[in-house]
Amino acid sequence: MKADGLKIPRHVAVIMDGNGRWAKKRLLPRTAGHSRGMNVMIDMAKKARELGIKYLTVYALSTENLARPREELEGLYDLVRRYFAKNVKDLYAENAAVRVIGDITALPEDVQALIEDGVKNSPANPDFFVILALNYGARAEITRAVNQAISAGQPVKEGDVSSLLYTKDFPDPDLIIRTGGELRLSNFLLWQAAYAELYFTDVLFPDFGGRDFEKAIKSYSSRNRRFGKI
Ligand code: IPE
Ligand code: IPE
Ligand code: MG
Repeated sequence: MKADGLKIPRHVAVIMDGNGRWAKKRLLPRTAGHSRGMNVMIDMAKKARELGIKYLTVYALSTENLARPREELEGLYDLVRRYFAKNVKDLYAENAAVRVIGDITALPEDVQALIEDGVKNSPANPDFFVILALNYGARAEITRAVNQAISAGQPVKEGDVSSLLYTKDFPDPDLIIRTGGELRLSNFLLWQAAYAELYFTDVLFPDFGGRDFEKAIKSYSSRNRRFGKI
């Protein structure tokens, strides 16, 4: 799809990194960074929708993040408790749906319930999807798929693997953005990223504004995707 002559990716996935460092620089608790990050995430979703992106996946909590101190995790869960319902209603008003990838059964029950409601009450024919990666790890996802294939007792083809992943209903990401300066994927969408374009920026997620997002889209737009062909 094109907007202002730009080639717009259908699916953008974002590794929202740098909240803790943003807070530390300001002598604030890490949770303050997560709180600001949450607002930035909402603005980013609006921007993505405006640009005509159809799927936005946000890496909010990895399987490895669950080993962080309890205090930090509680801070994150409290953000969900306080702001999730309102933010989701705003998304519905724009005919956007919420989906989840990852194993949310490890989260506190009330938080699970909020998230499940957010998914369940989403519009039926959305034109934009916000996909929350929560307690998501690509290795856990692939291991789960392998076990499902084994219990089905059939050899699998590549497409069958894709259809056993959490992301079975979504196309592969065209563009993966990582904020916060690290040059790695940290267990995010390892299978689905096979032909994703990668974009890394030093901007910490709480500082990642609409202009920064547009810069990433422009970079994507200028690339030549060959998928192994000539
Ligand atoms: C990413 O920011 C958000 C989560 C992992 C929940 P970090 O919390 O990893 O922030 P840094 O990398 O420590 O700055
Ligand atoms: C990746 O960030 C996970 C999320 C953004 C949710 P991390 O901060 O956990 O990744 P590492 O530890 O730097 O690889
Ligand atoms: Mg980090």
